[in-house]
Amino acid sequence: EHPNGLAEAFIIGKEFVGNDKVALILGDNIFYGTGLAELLQANNNPEGGIIYAYHVQDPERYGVVDFDKEGNVLSIEEKPAQPKSNYAVPGIYFYDNSVLEIAANIQPSPRGELEITDVNKEYLKQGNLKVSILDRGTAWLDTGTFPSLMQAGQFVQVIEERQGLKIGAIEEAAYKMGYIDAKQLETIAQPLLKSGYGVHLISLLER
Ligand code: G1P
Repeated sequence: EHPNGLAEAFIIGKEFVGNDKVALILGDNIFYGTGLAELLQANNNPEGGIIYAYHVQDPERYGVVDFDKEGNVLSIEEKPAQPKSNYAVPGIYFYDNSVLEIAANIQPSPRGELEITDVNKEYLKQGNLKVSILDRGTAWLDTGTFPSLMQAGQFVQVIEERQGLKIGAIEEAAYKMGYIDAKQLETIAQPLLKSGYGVHLISLLER
């Protein structure tokens, strides 16, 4: 009910996580690119934490990670006024089960939030943090401001209209991966026909 910070997910969601490893993905982040699914699947069984780094023009809006010449992580800072690099930390995180304990022990930041960056800093301190670079062939879009929401919408529209394919259609992915069958896909599509989205889902059955 209260925006107390991303790391609170691991306090609120403690029972849900149970003894498992866990991924956290922010609802206002959009990821798009070839090979992304494979990269994420390869990282979904972490010992410690796995986060990503992505080159952006405005790192001060994000968690920022700094590397040495060998690619070792030197620091992670939340929204630094003077960023040490252009590498922002996108909102997709993989953790082993110790994240529950780490999150339970961090203190609110000056902006009053339990920062995911503080969770990552603790993993870094323990020597258990892996940072993978998401290269320029991947689009990481953020929709947290009006202009960035508009830009993300334009990006998706351009690609979808050019290709005649949809980005981020979870029912389509579930169907293609065999999680739901044709009949279930049709049932989901029916009430969505008016928006055009259902028409897209039905068209998959005819392809
Ligand atoms: C949050 C995190 C930040 C991360 C960003 C990604 O920022 O605190 O480290 O880089 O998400 O979108 P916030 O959305 O709280 O400004």
